[in-house]
Amino acid sequence: MTTKTALITGITGQDGSLLAHYLISQGYKIIAPTRKNPDKSNLKKLAVENSEQITFLTYKKWSDFEEIISHYKPSEIYHLAAMSHVGQSHENPALVFDVNCIWTLALLKFTQEHSPHSKFFFASSCEIYRNDFDRAVTEGDEKRPNNPYGISKLSAHQMVDYYRDVKGLFACNGILFNHESELRHPSFVSKKICVNVARLVKNGGEPLTLGNIEAKKDWGYAPDYVKIFHTILQQPQSQNYNISTNKLHSVKDMVNAAFSALNYKISWQGTGINTQGINSDGLVVVSINEKYFRPLDNRFLCGDNTKIQTVGQNINQVPFHQWVKSMTLYEYNSLI
Ligand code: GDD
Repeated sequence: MTTKTALITGITGQDGSLLAHYLISQGYKIIAPTRKNPDKSNLKKLAVENSEQITFLTYKKWSDFEEIISHYKPSEIYHLAAMSHVGQSHENPALVFDVNCIWTLALLKFTQEHSPHSKFFFASSCEIYRNDFDRAVTEGDEKRPNNPYGISKLSAHQMVDYYRDVKGLFACNGILFNHESELRHPSFVSKKICVNVARLVKNGGEPLTLGNIEAKKDWGYAPDYVKIFHTILQQPQSQNYNISTNKLHSVKDMVNAAFSALNYKISWQGTGINTQGINSDGLVVVSINEKYFRPLDNRFLCGDNTKIQTVGQNINQVPFHQWVKSMTLYEYNSLI
């Protein structure tokens, strides 16, 4: 058990809640700045919303973090809060850049000025990489994002590098590939699939409607990943790491895994936007709608995880089919 203090931004999100849950089990005290009246439902699902180890603070603007950091001088800072939806980032690039980059820069500056011994973790993203590699990408590979979300994350990532390499802060980028869990927001495809597959199997109704089901992602399980955030800050040197599985699965693979978790047979017919998933009664249970397609969403980006494996963690503790099953059963069991 430790006497360390961790500041977490974005504690109410999927990763923030899971990380808080993990750090509480390790004895940490947690400083949790949130906006007024935060939605604590994820923390509640993990039974830590009333933990005495968490100190919730309300902030109104990013400059409030100057006082918070200077007052608490946390041992570790995990900056996870972000506008995290790649698709929606095309609609308001300026806001996305402000939240994802300028806020990160403010936190780095406050840390350097008021708490230079704090270790800083930034949730960077695989969306920063060039999109046409035909092999798994390593941390040193070329960065060339093609959406406002990725651009904002790359700028913040480079600021983290700058504060480490030039200003001497212990600052690390965890380059996160897609990672999912029961706590995922429904706007992400994993949750959408598991919720709708559970509903279709239990109650029937309208088909699950998706966009590009041939898109392939390097998908991992978020409860495994948050432990790695912590591991990264325990290393003797601050560095950047891919957090990934080095395996690709398509959206269609996820649909198949979710139906199969509930022993429900479907078959596929048609191609492109005419693809349909059909059940054993001949009913359409999956259809495609162009409105869910994204510009430039044709990348098969896979993360080489050799480097993170060297810090002693098996990052693939829960394999793809197992966590998709767990997410689907969770949704199925929560239906009345
Ligand atoms: N959301 C959504 N809804 N995605 C769909 C749908 C749909 O109906 N149909 C197909 N997809 C495809 C998307 O086009 C994308 O290729 C893939 O499913 C995954 O989409 P999301 O789950 O929305 O995640 P993401 O890849 O855009 O972003 C997540 O992962 C990034 C790391 O790669 C987020 O967590 C980002 O914050 C993160 O950086």
